[in-house]
Amino acid sequence: MRFDILTLFPEMFNGPLNASILKRAQEAGLIQIGLHNIRDWAQDKHHLTDDYPYSGGAGMVMKPEPLYHAIQAVKAQGRERFGEDARAGDTEPDPPVILLSPQGRVFSQSVARELSRHRRLILVCGHYEGVDERVCQLAITDQISIGDYVLTGGELAAMVVVDAVSRLIPGVLGDEASAEEESFAGGLLEYPQYTRPPEFMGLKVPEVLLSGNHAEIQRWRRYQSLGRTWARRPDLLARAPLTPEERLWLARLEAGEVQVPQAGGCWPPPERRSRSKAGNQKPPQAVPPAGDPGREQGPPDSQGA
Ligand code: ADE
Repeated sequence: MRFDILTLFPEMFNGPLNASILKRAQEAGLIQIGLHNIRDWAQDKHHLTDDYPYSGGAGMVMKPEPLYHAIQAVKAQGRERFGEDARAGDTEPDPPVILLSPQGRVFSQSVARELSRHRRLILVCGHYEGVDERVCQLAITDQISIGDYVLTGGELAAMVVVDAVSRLIPGVLGDEASAEEESFAGGLLEYPQYTRPPEFMGLKVPEVLLSGNHAEIQRWRRYQSLGRTWARRPDLLARAPLTPEERLWLARLEAGEVQVPQAGGCWPPPERRSRSKAGNQKPPQAVPPAGDPGREQGPPDSQGA
């Protein structure tokens, strides 16, 4: 997969893209990252890339000419490579041209998955108060926001997109399973993780994880994921693929008949840590008994969850 990034600040990318997994992925030829300075396409002697907005308003606007010509040049370079890539299965002469902007569609794991199916992406980092609208009309095919807040520019957003998409490319993580197991992959947050030692500052690793019983471990993890998602990101539950048994357990959690497995720390907010009704206090239940979520059972292990 190849990412071409158009930016006024290519130096911002050096650290984040040249360390750890992304560095290894580039060395292994699994991803390529091309950085292009938009200023190189500025036509005036001062190499200006921004100007005042017509009819006033705060800040500066990115001029259309340098950005438009930069996009066309990078697309042309890509087309030169296309003959070779076409033989390797590329069917797209022109890749998506994505402007990172707070006005774009909101980035998510499913958008990352969608983007990872392309062989190339052109990412355009906006700056100042925005980009002249005519560039969007002529050359941008998609706009992505990484969240409802405003950054000083699209560079950090582009790095987020490159990172999230790259880890979905086969081979980048090394262990294929982990890309799919992590938070959001199945529509739920990930279960809690533990490593050695078995006891730290008086807190023990849940016993089930030391049991070697894989079916029980799977079940424990699944209900930990469900409990965490209910407590921290209940909005995800509506779209998550759940069994009738799991839906029933969640309904009981919502009704306060069982408690969410210990959430830990100061987050999620107290009102979602425990919803047990007064007079109906039952011990925290990490996992309902197999095959019967309607019956109570003491927690196999609710500690540290
Ligand atoms: N540029 C400024 N803010 C942004 C955001 N939230 N997402 C993507 N690009 C941006």
